[in-house]
Amino acid sequence: MNLRVKVKERLGRKFDEEIRFFKGWMSNAKAVGAILPTSSITARRMASVINPASGLPVLELGPGTGVITKAILERGLPASSLVSVEYSTDFYNQLRANFAGVNFVNGDAFDLEHTLGELKGQTFDSVVSAVPLLNFPMHRRVELIDDLLSRIPAGRPVVQISYGPLSPVVAMPDRYSIQHLDFVVRNIPPAQLWVYRRAH
Ligand SMILES: C[S@@+](CC[C@H](N)C(=O)[O-])C[C@H]1O[C@@H](n2cnc3c(N)ncnc32)[C@H](O)[C@@H]1O
Repeated sequence: MNLRVKVKERLGRKFDEEIRFFKGWMSNAKAVGAILPTSSITARRMASVINPASGLPVLELGPGTGVITKAILERGLPASSLVSVEYSTDFYNQLRANFAGVNFVNGDAFDLEHTLGELKGQTFDSVVSAVPLLNFPMHRRVELIDDLLSRIPAGRPVVQISYGPLSPVVAMPDRYSIQHLDFVVRNIPPAQLWVYRRAH
């Protein structure tokens, strides 16, 4: 295949992703919470925190069009070791068509006991989250982080993308530590990446 055809195909795919994202955004702007899909640079930075050799599955929240899903799989995690929870049924159907073998669940990340079904007792290696936390009240954000940290070994990360200048979750030093992982300018809008770890 010549270079021009390849570039055309790639741009076509990227454009499809943006259209799909925009349709999702139009139908439910509050749940989608961003204006464009996550950039591949941001996605790779988020995926860098997982340990594909841990033998444990990884939990992804809010995969949307799958940019972060792709970056996680490119780290070498087998598709069958990725559990990914998406609220929008349109995104979910598209994700299932695009990423064979990934365990996608169409449900609410804020209700994992119910959403994860048989996997609710599973220990994960880490959590990679793009759910729009800023659209939820603070107490629900803190509850979510606490819940996620209870599903991974102590010391392992929950990485969260956010678009405000501060951590979307308030400091609770007795419960978790907060690390600012990165500020990615090559994302629209520029993205802040935060890592939460259990205090003990
Ligand atoms: C900012 S977008 C993520 C974009 C994604 N990284 C991409 O590049 O396409 C937020 C995603 O979280 C999903 N979402 C919102 N609330 C959710 C919830 N409570 N549980 C699971 N997914 C949720 C939205 O449907 C959307 O796909």
